[in-house]
Amino acid sequence: MPQRIVAGNWKMNGSRAQLAAFLAALRQGWAEPRRCDVLLFPPALLVPEAIEPASALGIGVGMQTVHPEASGAFTGELAAEMAVDVGASWTLVGHSERRELCGESDEDVAARTVAALRAGLRPMLCVGETLEQRRAGNAETVVREQLEAVLAVVGDELAAGAVAYEPVWAIGTGETASPETAEAMHVAIRDILKARGPRLGMVPILYGGSVKPENAAALFAKEDIDGALVGGASLDAAAFLAIIAAMETHGNP
Ligand code: 13P
Repeated sequence: MPQRIVAGNWKMNGSRAQLAAFLAALRQGWAEPRRCDVLLFPPALLVPEAIEPASALGIGVGMQTVHPEASGAFTGELAAEMAVDVGASWTLVGHSERRELCGESDEDVAARTVAALRAGLRPMLCVGETLEQRRAGNAETVVREQLEAVLAVVGDELAAGAVAYEPVWAIGTGETASPETAEAMHVAIRDILKARGPRLGMVPILYGGSVKPENAAALFAKEDIDGALVGGASLDAAAFLAIIAAMETHGNP
C-alpha cells in the first residue's frame, strides 16, 4: 500500500505566534503511534522554526516552492539546497496558485521537481484542472499532461515523492470534489503511474480542495485516495487533528 499522508499547506498565512500555538495544540492532542505521516508546509520564513517542534512529533516540514537553480542571482528566490540546509524534507511543486498567479508552466514545474530531487527534498507534485477544463470534458487530459510533463523529465525518481490531485474549482471554494469524482481521477493518475513501473505505482496520491473534518472520512474511504493536502482547515489545529484521525480510521490500512 502507498504511504498515507495528511499534509497542511498554510499558503501565505500565519505568524511565528500562530505557528507556536498551532504546534502546541497539536502536541496536546497528539496520539501515538500515528498511523499516517503528517506534513506541514508553512510559509518559507516559518520553516526553520517549525523544524524542531514538528520533528519532535514526527511531522515533516516542507517548502511551498523552490527555485530550479541551486544558487545565483535570483533576488528573492529560495533554493532547494537552502531548504535542506535548514531541515526541510519536502516541497510542493506545481501548486495551481503558482501555475496561475506566478505563470509557472509545466516546464518550470519539471525544473523545480528536478531541483528538489537534486537537493534531496521529496517533491509533492500538484496537478488539477480548472472548472472550464472539466466542463469541456478535458479534466483527465489536462491532469495527464501535467503529470507526464514531469515524468518525462524525472522518470521514476518521482517515486521519492507524492502526487496531489487538486481540482482548481475545489480550492478555497468550499466546494469539494465528491469522493467518486476524486476517486475517478485518482484511478486515472494511478494508471498513468503504474504504466511506468511498480515503483511509481506505489506513489501516494493525495486529494486537495476544501478538505475538512466533515468530508475527510468519505474521501479517505476511497481506495486510491492515500491522503489529503489541506489548505484552510490546516490552520486550525483541532480541524487538522480531526482530518488526521479520519485518515487513521477510514483510510486504507
Ligand atoms: P483549501 O483546502 O483551502 O481548499 O486549499 C487546498 C489547497 O490548495 C491545498 O494545497
